[in-house]
Amino acid sequence: MSNIQSLLLTELQKKSSTKWRKYDQHILPMHIAEMDFDIASEIKAEIVDRVQRGDLGYLGPIPELGDAVSKFALNRWGWNLDPNLVTPAVDVGVATIEVIRVLANSGDQVLINSPAYSNFFNWLDELKMQLVDVPMLQSAQGWELDLVGIEDAFKSGIKIFLLCNPQNPVGHVHAENELRAVAELANKYQVFVISDEIHAPLTYSDISFTPYLKIPEASETGYAITSASKAWNISGLKAAVIVSGSEKAANRIAALPKAVHMRTSIVGAFAMIAAMNFATAWLDETLDILNHRRFFLQELLLDLAPGIQYKIPSAGYLAWLDLSSFGENDNWHDHFVNEGKVSIVPGQEFGHQYKNFVRLNFATYPEILEEGVRRISKALR
Ligand SMILES: Cc1ncc(COP(=O)(O)O)c(C=O)c1O
Repeated sequence: MSNIQSLLLTELQKKSSTKWRKYDQHILPMHIAEMDFDIASEIKAEIVDRVQRGDLGYLGPIPELGDAVSKFALNRWGWNLDPNLVTPAVDVGVATIEVIRVLANSGDQVLINSPAYSNFFNWLDELKMQLVDVPMLQSAQGWELDLVGIEDAFKSGIKIFLLCNPQNPVGHVHAENELRAVAELANKYQVFVISDEIHAPLTYSDISFTPYLKIPEASETGYAITSASKAWNISGLKAAVIVSGSEKAANRIAALPKAVHMRTSIVGAFAMIAAMNFATAWLDETLDILNHRRFFLQELLLDLAPGIQYKIPSAGYLAWLDLSSFGENDNWHDHFVNEGKVSIVPGQEFGHQYKNFVRLNFATYPEILEEGVRRISKALR
């Protein structure tokens, strides 16, 4: 490793987030979805101002939040959403759990499409829901939703469809026509759709992201849950939003506990407002950097570990790596930590059938990414 990289690593290693504390320092952390880049100055200024004024109480009414989400969504995606249909929540996890709690009963069926964000499995477990998986389909053209499988599942009594849009871990942005088909099916079978859109601001410019609720057919049965936490790298600030597709949909979740609002961090909520209103240039610059890294990773893999299959993601900074050509291994996680001194997330966390896959976070500096791939390559030799 060059001196520059060592210096950089020394700084990063002082962080106290789980990315930097889960493992000993000799393990290069490339597992959890946190970026190694500094946060936007606009967000820093907002936090400092709030601290200096001692404005750190419980979160009160916050109309600025609906306005900021609405303005950002309109500018970015042409999605015209009513600010009154925006409700704060602690984070995307809490928001999803609380919305499901209001819309369904323990034991009800909730549909997901694997490979899907690992915490979907944990949240549904916590809620004692019955998880139904209709895996995504993969072809040479890329990923798509299995609409026939989804309709069959809806017919059999699905209560809620928990959609990941864009999909973590594969970085796939669902096509508008597929989302429309989902909305039509949801109306036909009276299924509620919760679209987790936390990765949406990180969609690369060569593809367009469709917010689920931008589809008119989605309004009666749909909810979107998002946050600035992923795209602006502020997950420790604890704030997210629930957006209802219509007044009717909002009334359906009117029984959400008041605490969902109250428990949201006042710092986090105002940081999200600062992010969406003022830190859009930072977001674009970060996307440029990530755009470089998603292709750089491909070069590194071709050079250092050509047996790994990698499809460049359309959104986000997570790479879904297929290790099938390296034979069976039930525990790639331990293998990479022990033999390569590098951490990844094992594929099984995104669905039991993905044990030949691992997820790698590439939101870092080129030297660190190269070192990570070198370590992976070494562990595969
Ligand atoms: C799809 C998805 N949803 C939710 C989260 C977590 O969001 P939060 O920290 O706001 O609960 C993540 C984190 O990586 C994610 O990838």
